[in-house]
Amino acid sequence: MTPLRLSVNVDHVATLRNARGGHFPDPVEAARACLAAGADGITIHLREDRRHIRDTDATRMAAEPGLRLNFEMAATEEMVGIALGLRPAACCLVPEKRQELTTEGGLDLLRAGPDLGAAIRRLAGAGIEVSVFVEPDAAQIAAAARLGAQAVELHTGTYAEAAPQARPALLARLRAGAEAAAAHGLACHAGHGLDVTTVEGIAAIPQISEVSIGYFLVGAAVFEGLPAAVRRMREAIARGRAQH
Ligand code: PXP
Repeated sequence: MTPLRLSVNVDHVATLRNARGGHFPDPVEAARACLAAGADGITIHLREDRRHIRDTDATRMAAEPGLRLNFEMAATEEMVGIALGLRPAACCLVPEKRQELTTEGGLDLLRAGPDLGAAIRRLAGAGIEVSVFVEPDAAQIAAAARLGAQAVELHTGTYAEAAPQARPALLARLRAGAEAAAAHGLACHAGHGLDVTTVEGIAAIPQISEVSIGYFLVGAAVFEGLPAAVRRMREAIARGRAQH
């Protein structure tokens, strides 16, 4: 069976740390705990306003031995420069608005200007695996391939937040998106809003090779600890994978 990587997003460990302005809890230490509990990699989003992850977190994370870093970023000149300095294993390009609470949807690759393609080429040219965060839409996925991305990350937020009875139709859309990505030779990742229940349906889609999950795990850590939450997520992923 194709393995499904779990990349844990530790942005909200930094949110908690920043609430008191000190060094605790440290996102790098959280990353180590996640990896020890069975995560395959770590995701961080260095936002333009630095509301959670800061530049020093990104530098320390990139220097961690054995840590597969997925660097989530807007495709701005500043962020491309930082990513080229950090050399993470992967970059996930996302839309970013200052006022949003979290990333609100996928990139619109059909309306993207030449800068996006240039950013993808520069990052990929440096040996970084580039994914683009998109809705599970055939035209967006085809555009990702045209622009030279190696992967798409399908936006799972709409599915994850839907009422349980509405989820099967939304999951079918994600499945079709994953098949389209594979047909274009793209790796397929997925993320946003997933928890131990909704991840199962995603894990049952065989083309999906990575999920990026943060908010649920950091929230669950309040009650059960981060290693236990990561282990529980791994078990849910294994249950979902066994269904396909
Ligand atoms: N993938 C992308 C592109 C995101 O922007 C986020 C949120 O930062 C996630 C995955 C993880 O979402 P969540 O924190 O809701 O699990």
